[in-house]
This record gives sequence, structure tokens and C-alpha cells, in this order.
Amino acid sequence: MKRIGVLTSGGDAPGMNAAVRSVVRTACENDMEVVGIRRGYTGLINGDMVEMNIRSVSDIIHRGGTILYSARCLEFKEEAGLQKAIQSCKENAIDGIVVIGGDGSFRGARDLSLRGVPCIGIPGTIDNDIACSDYTIGYDTCLNTIMEMVDRVRDTTESHDRCSVVEVMGRRAGYLALNAGIAVGATSILVPEFDYDIERDVIERMRRTQKTGKRHFIIMVAEGIGGVEELARRIEKETMVESRAVILGHVQRGGAPTCKDRVVASQMGNRAVKLLQQGIGNRVVGMRNEEIFDMDIYEALSMTKTLDKELFDISYEISI
Ligand code: ADP
Ligand code: F6P
Repeated sequence: MKRIGVLTSGGDAPGMNAAVRSVVRTACENDMEVVGIRRGYTGLINGDMVEMNIRSVSDIIHRGGTILYSARCLEFKEEAGLQKAIQSCKENAIDGIVVIGGDGSFRGARDLSLRGVPCIGIPGTIDNDIACSDYTIGYDTCLNTIMEMVDRVRDTTESHDRCSVVEVMGRRAGYLALNAGIAVGATSILVPEFDYDIERDVIERMRRTQKTGKRHFIIMVAEGIGGVEELARRIEKETMVESRAVILGHVQRGGAPTCKDRVVASQMGNRAVKLLQQGIGNRVVGMRNEEIFDMDIYEALSMTKTLDKELFDISYEISI
């Protein structure tokens, strides 16, 4: 391939810039031209693109967000939108595309590949919910942000002998809640993947720890569970511990990527371009047992991923 495109799509994630940088630099070093496509599939449909060279990605490895901007493009999900995107690739002489995003973005990449525009997907989402890969770009930064924010919440929770019911992102997945929950010493962690009973898993646990002298509590709730305001009211009523709901929100998606996210993004970007260079498309790059690998996009999209039950059980054993 002579000329490739790169885009970021879906919810942004820290480290997307590092991935874009790696894609652009790898392509340039291998005598390929690179076009930056703005705002995901929206930019592809509208021809909103910019020529990139090794200097266009200077000074971005440490920055959160994405210099290419991101979007959720509904038009692209329809055949007419897809056809416009394909036409746009022809007009701009784009031979293949690196798509950085979540599994919605991968579905788009699959659809494009199927219609003759080879694409490589790179997992970029704070949620870590891409089945084929142990790791997604942005996850580590997000976990550390949550940890830092909840540590702050904990200070004031402790000063006032309160309970803070913290909701973290993750769409339908509990990876962020479970791992950050352990890291902040949450008394209870509620995730959509595992059954829970509020009386048994929150109220009773709080009562039990109250008897041992504990007077402040963090309850970690995954976004997919929701209802943190009601839960805080119920806890207050049943335990007499003054409670507050804290929804961390989009602060979790911003900020400078951690070392891990910069390194993994650099590796994945490089692998994606090497595949396109060989004329290989319709694949997803991932990480398994700390190694970068690539696999068929259809296969990747048919996989499921489970949350670590052992880790979940550990959290219940030690957060008392
Ligand atoms: P993510 O990639 O983070 O999962 P979304 O699910 O919002 O985020 O998907 C990002 C974009 O990918 C969508 O706006 C749409 O343009 C495209 N997309 C999502 N789902 C599909 C699908 N089933 N088929 C084709 N394209 C899709
Ligand atoms: O997929 C990333 C994510 O931040 C999810 O954790 C969350 O459910 C969603 O995106 C929020 O999306 P929006 O930016 O539309 O509020």
C-alpha cells in the first residue's frame, strides 16, 4: 500500500495520540503516505482529512484526547453512509485505514474491509471491554485517574465519617470498577458481570465492618449498575451513616496517558501499519500475555471476555 488513512472513533481515550503518532511515523519511515481523517467515520464520509508527516505528530505523545478528534457517526452505520465513505477513500486515493476505537468502530472497520477498503483495528477505549484483547489503550490511565480521584474523595469521606458511593465509567463492563475498587479499598464493588444483593453485599458488609470500628466507607459502582443516588439514600437510612453519591464522569477520560498506554499504543500503531504495508487488512491488533498479536476482525468480534472472578473474590475477602 502506498497511502493509508488513520482515524480515532467512539469515546476518546488517553493514548490515542500516541497510537496516531506511531501510525504516522511508521508509515512515513516505510515510504507510505498518511492521511489523518478527522472525527472518525464522519470525517471519512465528509472528506475531512489532513495530510500528515513525521512532524505533524510532534509533541502529542504525552497528550490526552485525540488530535484527530473523535465522533460517533450514525450515518456510517447505514449502507448509504458506508458507500459515501468508500467513495471518499477512492477520491482521496486511500488504500487502507487504521481505525483506533472500540468494538463499534471495529464493526465499521469490518464493513469497510468487506467492501474493499482493508482496515486494521486498534483497541482504544478506557473500558477495556474488547473481547479479543487483554488490554485496550487508555485503560491504565483511566484506572490511575479514578484511583487518584477516589483517594481525594476518601479524605473527605473519612473526615466526616461518611459513606461515598462512587460511580465509575465502563459502559456495560466492570473492569474499571473492579480494578479501581480494589486499588482504593472499596468495601463493596458492584459490577454488571456478577450477581449482587444490596442487603447482603453492601448493607451487611458495612454493618459488619462498623462493629470492628470502621466509620467511613467507599462503595464502588460500575456505570452499568447505576442508581448511585438511590443507593446512597438507602445506605444512609439502613446504616445511619451519612452518605453521598459521587459520579466521577468524563474526568476519567482525559489527562496525560501513563507510560503503559504510551508504550502499548506505540507498539500497536506500529503493528497495524506493518500489516497494511503487506497488503493485509480486516484484522485487529491486540495484546495477550503482554505480547502484541493480530487476528481476524470477524473472529475478534465474535469473542466474549469475562471479568476476573478470583480478583472479585479477593476484594471481598480483604476489603473489610
Ligand atoms: P466504540 O468504537 O467506542 O465502541 P461506538 O460504539 O460509538 O464506539 O462506535 C463508534 C462508531 O463506529 C459509530 O459511531 C459508528 O460510526 C461505527 N459503528 C458502530 N457500530 C457499528 C456497526 N454495527 N456497524 C458499522 N459501524 C458501526
Ligand atoms: O466507551 C467509553 C465511555 O466513556 C463509556 O465508559 C461511557 O459509557 C461512554 O463512553 C460515555 O459516552 P459519552 O461520551 O457519550 O458520554
